[in-house]
Amino acid sequence: MLRQALLVASRSGGVRKIVETAPLTRDVVRRFIAGETVADALDCTERLTGEGLLVTLDVLGEDTLDKAQAEATVAHYVELLERLAGSELGPRAEVSLKLTAVGQALDEDLALQNARRICTAARSASTTVTLDMEDHTTVDSTLGILHELRRDFPDTGAVIQSYLRRAEEHCAELAYEGSRVRLCKGAYAAPEAVAFTDKDDVDKSYVRCMKVLMAGKGYPMLATHDPRLVDIASALAVLHERDPDTYEYQMLYGIRPQEQRRLAAQGAQVRVYVAYGSEWYGYFMRRLAERPANLAFFMRSVATRS
Ligand code: FDA
Repeated sequence: MLRQALLVASRSGGVRKIVETAPLTRDVVRRFIAGETVADALDCTERLTGEGLLVTLDVLGEDTLDKAQAEATVAHYVELLERLAGSELGPRAEVSLKLTAVGQALDEDLALQNARRICTAARSASTTVTLDMEDHTTVDSTLGILHELRRDFPDTGAVIQSYLRRAEEHCAELAYEGSRVRLCKGAYAAPEAVAFTDKDDVDKSYVRCMKVLMAGKGYPMLATHDPRLVDIASALAVLHERDPDTYEYQMLYGIRPQEQRRLAAQGAQVRVYVAYGSEWYGYFMRRLAERPANLAFFMRSVATRS
């Protein structure tokens, strides 16, 4: 119930105003978000890659209904990728992109052209782009754009959300050679008709999807903080005799940082999803929805400031 309420709030303009103007301590937002500027993102990337972790950078922002805003997002990604190329962080840091931030809700062709420009900049920086998966209503469009992009940029990463009933079928379609696929549980509100709403069912679906991806020929990117799922992933890697460089774990910046380092120290590839920018509201609210402890942390911070 609480999760659903927070997810509904994550798309409400009214609640957004209240949260954005609440007397938040800087630390509360900073726990999940690397900062506001490209320089903040690069500092964070340098720190994490220096510790043996990989990074995927997300410029915060989503649900754009304004062409100029979509253009500004593309320009921001291109600048980020040029700076990554200059700092030679490229191969260890890629970018994650929300298609709704580059115009998907306005015009799919515009989003495809904009994503192409970002993929071109990523290639010049010797790195890759992964297309985040958003609200369930965007899945078919996002997979369609992914297939178009992969004609020219076969290393473009896909994301599958295990809470969707079609997740396993999508994994089977995407488990081919060279196909980079991030598997996550899914962070948006979705109705029973298209998604599992019981946590156990979502977890079971994650395991089924992971089995398909780990048995397949692609490059699985297992995005979860769930210790049971991480253990199952390690067992599947042994079962399928996968070398550590044929798959990776992914976790969010600020969540289970010690576990990220523990896995990396054991020789696993671990990529940290680092979000930055000023449009932090939707991303921040989804993190609150995932875990009551995150919400308690937020409420305590507001209470101590007010
Ligand atoms: P869940 O939230 O169920 O937590 C399972 C267990 O993990 C907990 O019981 C606890 O043991 C442990 N845990 C979780 N948080 C913890 C914390 N703060 N401290 C300690 N332990 C903790 N979603 C989406 O819809 N589209 C997308 O494109 C992406 N992209 C993405 C990239 C990456 C790299 C990650 C890690 C996640 C995403 N997500 C996403 C978000 C994803 O769908 C999901 O909402 C969150 O990862 C939370 O799910 P978990 O798998 O961590 O399990």
